Amino acid sequence: MTLDPHKFFSILERRVGLTPEDKELLKSQADWGLEIAPKMAEYFYDYLERDPEMSVILHDGSGRIHRLRETFIQWFHEMFTGMDNWGDVYAERRWKIGLIHVRIGIGPQHVVPAMATVIYEVGKRLTNDGKSADLKDALGRICMIDLAFIEQAYIEVSSSAVLKETGWSEGLFKRLISTGAKAM
Ligand code: HEM
Repeated sequence: MTLDPHKFFSILERRVGLTPEDKELLKSQADWGLEIAPKMAEYFYDYLERDPEMSVILHDGSGRIHRLRETFIQWFHEMFTGMDNWGDVYAERRWKIGLIHVRIGIGPQHVVPAMATVIYEVGKRLTNDGKSADLKDALGRICMIDLAFIEQAYIEVSSSAVLKETGWSEGLFKRLISTGAKAM
């Protein structure tokens, strides 16, 4: 179960429906994205800090919260620039972000509502700044792709760890999951 980030990006791009027009639109608004990124980071971390479990993770005494504000701004801006036109560099970066969250123990229950917060706050700002509905849709699509990377990293890492530890085949593992789900 080793994921090829580039292939995974292509699959998601098709499933989510991110079009070349979306990419052009995002790139044309990259300066606006960078301008609003610090404010979005503020909303984002205020939201995380209101949750007791996530607040503990953020304040681990190593200055995480400060590093994170900077990396959030960078991440947010990259959604507009696409880094290398949403190619290998973009996909690898999204995969790495996913793996970092898995290592820290941040799962779907944390990440999905966090991304919903980003989408909600950007949506409000788009309206205030008179931006188009097309831009809102394009941003929603790229946010979903980024979210899918973090979610998939969680599945891939968990599955690989079980397979490595037990020596089970992938087929057996899938059958066990299916049986377990039926029994729930
Ligand atoms: C929309 C979802 C999220 C996005 C886009 C996001 C983005 C990022 C990025 C870009 C990094 C830096 C990765 C690197 O160092 O290369 C990061 C790391 C991290 N994120 Fe998130 N994040 C999300 C959700 C969360 C949530 C829900 C938490 C919960 C507390 C969280 C906590 C952290 C922590 C603790 C780190 C590592 C910081 C460090 O020690 O340097 N993130 N995140």
